[in-house]
Amino acid sequence: MKLENPLQIKPFKARRARLARHLGAGVVVVPTAPERQRNADTHYDYRWDSGFYYLTGFREPEAVVVMVLGARPRSILFCREKNLEREIWDGYRHGPGQAREHFGFDEAYAYGELDARMPDLLADQEVLHTPVGSDPAWDLRVAGWLNAVRAKVRTGVSAPAQIRDVRVPLGDMRLVKDEHEIAVMRRAAAISSEAHRRAMRSAAPGMREYEVEAELLHEFLRNGARAPAYGSIVAAGANACVLHYRENSAELRKGELLLIDAGCELDSYASDITRTFPVAGRFGAVQRDVYELVLAAQQAGIHAVKPGADFIAYHDAATAVLVRGLIDFKLCKGSVDGVLENGTYKQFYMHRTGHWLGLDVHDVGDYMQKGKWRKLKAGMVLTVEPGLYIRPAPNVPKPFWNIGVRIEDDVLVTAKGREILTAHCPKTVKDVEEAVLDR
Ligand code: GLY
Ligand code: MN
Ligand code: MN
Repeated sequence: MKLENPLQIKPFKARRARLARHLGAGVVVVPTAPERQRNADTHYDYRWDSGFYYLTGFREPEAVVVMVLGARPRSILFCREKNLEREIWDGYRHGPGQAREHFGFDEAYAYGELDARMPDLLADQEVLHTPVGSDPAWDLRVAGWLNAVRAKVRTGVSAPAQIRDVRVPLGDMRLVKDEHEIAVMRRAAAISSEAHRRAMRSAAPGMREYEVEAELLHEFLRNGARAPAYGSIVAAGANACVLHYRENSAELRKGELLLIDAGCELDSYASDITRTFPVAGRFGAVQRDVYELVLAAQQAGIHAVKPGADFIAYHDAATAVLVRGLIDFKLCKGSVDGVLENGTYKQFYMHRTGHWLGLDVHDVGDYMQKGKWRKLKAGMVLTVEPGLYIRPAPNVPKPFWNIGVRIEDDVLVTAKGREILTAHCPKTVKDVEEAVLDR
């Protein structure tokens, strides 16, 4: 919980300063996420709000950051008070005093004082920047503060006339990663790459999907990545054709492929890798053809990731390769342009080729601006994840049935092109087969 290295607060302070410069005036108020009950008196593992964390580095529940903007912006943290009784049961709490010092705030107060202090902090401010519309309870609370300021108008104060969604500028900022974030994401990607290698080595006919999931989790945890960034998908055979398969309980059979979509969360940052490999170590002929096609599409997609390109360009590049191959396999009929136009390829490829990646696995940031695709820029991180999911159907020859392949890497846009953060995860047919047979 404690930040051991005081230098680590620097990037968080720098982000607050950057947001303050960007917004100029008003008051920013960002709460962290609530704790969520799992059942009876047990809670889900706590996960702080990503936007709040981005600005603070603070991981305790019941916390709110307030930034009073202007010529000399002030940052104020509201957090839980120290409480010996609760700390005996649940562990360390910073309390406002230590939190202020450790996390570099100008002021810090008890969370219980938030409602009493907010009306004064909002008085005579033009704009309130807060995640409006994300949580009805939060909106109600904000309305309560505004009404408390309005109740005092006869004393000469005025309430903010505008409420703006702070998630919009925050999303834009989070889209372009700073050096601190890139360093963490490189490490998260490396841990996940090793986890996939471990899964390849461990998998064998007769095992259950969850046994392979256990290998992934083992590798995450032993490297300090305390949770997966999303529910791991471990899908053998036909299960690979279920895009969000979560059952993870089927038996692995000789002759089948195993699709694994899993990535760790390290220091709040996600990684997101998919690999598909033969359970017994060698691809069958048709499996291999499908795999090589998805790999070629993925490589075309990765190649199209570069600064200045439209976000959608890499999806288009990957899709064009898939369509060419589907026509060659006689799974689609017509010309590449014709099949792209009529969309018959969507029987086998029904998702987009990737998404932003960061504190959230499907990270924030608009994909389009004013009706146009966003241009890629150095510092953005995205996934490149084409796939083919071939379910039994009358128009599909039997040898293709139930083959599902996806290949997913995490890619950083650089000034000159791209860096594949997950490059150490086996991917070519040869490397994958070797990794499976490396027992
Ligand atoms: N694992 C989620 C995704 O690939 O988008
Ligand atoms: Mn994934
Ligand atoms: Mn993904």
